[in-house]
Amino acid sequence: MATFNLKINGKSRTVDVDPATPMLWVLRDHLDLPGTKYGCGIAQCGACTIHLEGNAVRSCQLPVSSVGKSAVTTIEGLSEKADHPVQKAWLEHDVAQCGYCQTGQIMTAAALLKRNPNPTDEEIEAQMSGNICRCGTYVKIKEAVKSAAKK
Ligand code: FES
Ligand code: FES
Repeated sequence: MATFNLKINGKSRTVDVDPATPMLWVLRDHLDLPGTKYGCGIAQCGACTIHLEGNAVRSCQLPVSSVGKSAVTTIEGLSEKADHPVQKAWLEHDVAQCGYCQTGQIMTAAALLKRNPNPTDEEIEAQMSGNICRCGTYVKIKEAVKSAAKK
């Protein structure tokens, strides 16, 4: 066990865990932030996507010991009132079905638009292709990302 002082959603949080613990479990089990989901555990599905210094990363393969002072953002901290342009577009386009993959989808889309506010269809497809949705919401996801890009 070791103590880590983390910057999560703009606040300082301290955890005492094994240094190899993936951030996914630090967030869910130790910091009561269950919005980040466990899908595959092997960096293949995108359900566990969070932001590290604004970049989309897979928290299931991110040891807490590698985070240091980098700013971590989860779906709970993406916006104050769930009013990030991507979240609003998701509601407008009624994207979610079962919802399980949607945290990861939204975090990936938000990071994409921060880096590239006007992505082409191909860029959206390329960036979102690593986030798997068993319900097949891909068409609506693309519409919502395009809509959010205009705001
Ligand atoms: S749970 Fe992390 S990529 Fe699937
Ligand atoms: S909405 Fe069900 S897995 Fe994507």
